[in-house]
Amino acid sequence: MTNYMLWNHEIIERTKDNAMISLEDRGYQFGDGVYEVIRIYDGRFHSLKWHLDRLDYSMRELGIQPPFDRSALIADLQALIEKNQFHDDGKLYLQVTRGLQPRDHVYQSDLDAIYYATIDRFDKPFQMWEQGVKVTLQEDIRWLRCDIKSLNLLGNVIAKTKAQSAGYYEPLLHRDGIIRECGASNFFMVQDGKLLTHPLNHLILGGMTRKKVLKLAGELNIEVEEKEFPVEALEDADECFLTATPLEVVPIVQIDQQSLPIGPITKKLQQYYRESVIKDLY
Ligand SMILES: Cc1ncc(COP(=O)(O)O)c(C=O)c1O
Repeated sequence: MTNYMLWNHEIIERTKDNAMISLEDRGYQFGDGVYEVIRIYDGRFHSLKWHLDRLDYSMRELGIQPPFDRSALIADLQALIEKNQFHDDGKLYLQVTRGLQPRDHVYQSDLDAIYYATIDRFDKPFQMWEQGVKVTLQEDIRWLRCDIKSLNLLGNVIAKTKAQSAGYYEPLLHRDGIIRECGASNFFMVQDGKLLTHPLNHLILGGMTRKKVLKLAGELNIEVEEKEFPVEALEDADECFLTATPLEVVPIVQIDQQSLPIGPITKKLQQYYRESVIKDLY
């Protein structure tokens, strides 16, 4: 664990009783808040602008008043890296809750949002990259605004825990017979040389890794289609992989009883993603 954290506008020592959460914090009571996880490579933030754009989007969609302006936040995050003398690979966790209010479903519009950020070491997941992971189909029971990166993750928490208890890394979620995404990652399928993934809408999170993989696929002249496909289409999949900030591109080697190879397009994107990280560091 690192020694310092950002607590509202201040860098404070990260001890057990230094940052106190009020019982009336709406994040604590209702999951009324948003967050970002940002990858750090050698002490530098990856795709920072994209993540802060998504954070702005999440706050705007929920009517949370941003507690910082962007340039001040970036300066604070860099100060946090420096204060911790953090030069490793890691993850930044940044959370904003709507603020304090006596418990009431109806929120007041003038609350002061509360935020904190922590940095932790996170090593590159070589084993997952090389061996891939298993996923299991599950019905998507989440709410209908999966595009908002909200703290309210109970649907994901239940799905992912159930999947891992059964020996799978991720649930592969379907709603109305359509494959959507995984519990904490986006899903891609390769079929006849073409890369397919769910289109951006309210039923999936617009992943930053997804966005970058689509950009890189374009640079590699891999044909891409963002479209809905039914669960049955998995039978014709040549390759599948998932994407998420900490994990980058991870091959899927099994969907329930169906085995899949770690194919050439997955390997190519995985490799190119790793090579391209350096271009998006801040
Ligand atoms: C539900 C869900 N989908 C997709 C992702 C991947 O998003 P990103 O690539 O921005 O990490 C996440 C990441 O936490 C997630 O929770």
